[in-house]
Amino acid sequence: VRRLASDFGTPLYLLDATRVVASLERLRAAIATEYASVEITYSVKSNYLTHILRTVLAAGFRLEIVSRRELDLARLVGAQSRQILFNGPVKSPADLRDCYREGIDLNVDSLEELHLASTISTIDKPFRLGLRLATTLRNGSVSRFGLDLDDGETLEAIRAVRDAGHIHIVGLHLHHSSRRDAASYCDRLDQMLDAAERLAIAPEYLDLGGGIGSIPPPEIAAKLTYAIDSHQSLGATIGRHACARLGSHGPRILLEPGIGVLADAMNYVVTLVAVKARANGAAVAVADGSAMDVNPLRSAIHPPCFLLTDSARPVTNAPVPLYGGTCMEIDQLGTFDVGHLPQAGDLAVLTNVGAYSVSLAPDFIVPRAAVYSLDAHQLLRPRQEAPFTGAGA
Ligand SMILES: Cc1ncc(COP(=O)(O)O)c(C=O)c1O
Repeated sequence: VRRLASDFGTPLYLLDATRVVASLERLRAAIATEYASVEITYSVKSNYLTHILRTVLAAGFRLEIVSRRELDLARLVGAQSRQILFNGPVKSPADLRDCYREGIDLNVDSLEELHLASTISTIDKPFRLGLRLATTLRNGSVSRFGLDLDDGETLEAIRAVRDAGHIHIVGLHLHHSSRRDAASYCDRLDQMLDAAERLAIAPEYLDLGGGIGSIPPPEIAAKLTYAIDSHQSLGATIGRHACARLGSHGPRILLEPGIGVLADAMNYVVTLVAVKARANGAAVAVADGSAMDVNPLRSAIHPPCFLLTDSARPVTNAPVPLYGGTCMEIDQLGTFDVGHLPQAGDLAVLTNVGAYSVSLAPDFIVPRAAVYSLDAHQLLRPRQEAPFTGAGA
């Protein structure tokens, strides 16, 4: 870490893309031992680094995208149409037309999209598409996405479009991240099978969405109010339930993990620029990074934070909060646990920052951090040094 920080500067992300693939494979294998027809798609929005996308594709996984911008990214890294699944609540007529023409799997999110799809396609070549369902899981969490079949008018409208023959409903989709336990995935599957019955369709795939938990390190596990199933046990439970409900030759089961396969694939290294003593005996540390780089979604749980120190230092009995350059009182990166007192010049490592970090980190006050790949042994992108330039910058 010291050598990389000295070679490339800080703040610096460290990525190990082999961890992403290992998690994807673990999930796939766990389901496949119980139910063979399974496909795992990588949720592109969760981390845009092209090195990850290329690694995931090369390992035989598909990309789940939610916009034209992400479609362009998928194409940039060489994804073929069959390797892409298009979700998301906002699709333009051109998006629908291109998916239809190029044979990209797509889940429609609204009646408006469904009607649009039916005007694009013909009876001779119906639009093969999936429906995102706005099902309510048993914990009562209502989704603002997808189509609610409990609404009679929506159900009738879907049936009418289907009966007109221009679309062919080949899949069902739902996504919730409010629950991550294995039982909730069985619940999702049951709800989709109910929906298939109400629509009188025989879907080719049932897409259970993302929401799979990452395996938390002890520092995070201690703060969670719920347990996270291991990928093996989650996958086996889903697979067993699929087999019980569908037999051994049912539709493909899809999962779209983001955080579950990404969180532990990246760390973030910063240099401490100041450690301030406070009158109450506590200390506050400031680093050259940004809270936006490690927790842009402002989760209440900060990533674990470790001090790299090689000298015998005084020990502090109070945790030391770590802030960055973003000058807002709430922008805390993490907390050093009790231990050696940090001092300016020390390096700190924040772990478990692979999901919703790089792709969401804004160009706000602190420049974009560099990214180094531990598996490819190369700098994937340098630290952004360019000043603000151009119109409106
Ligand atoms: C449709 C869909 N699939 C998959 C994901 C990935 O979710 P997670 O990171 O919770 O696995 C998301 C995230 O919001 C999503 O909206």
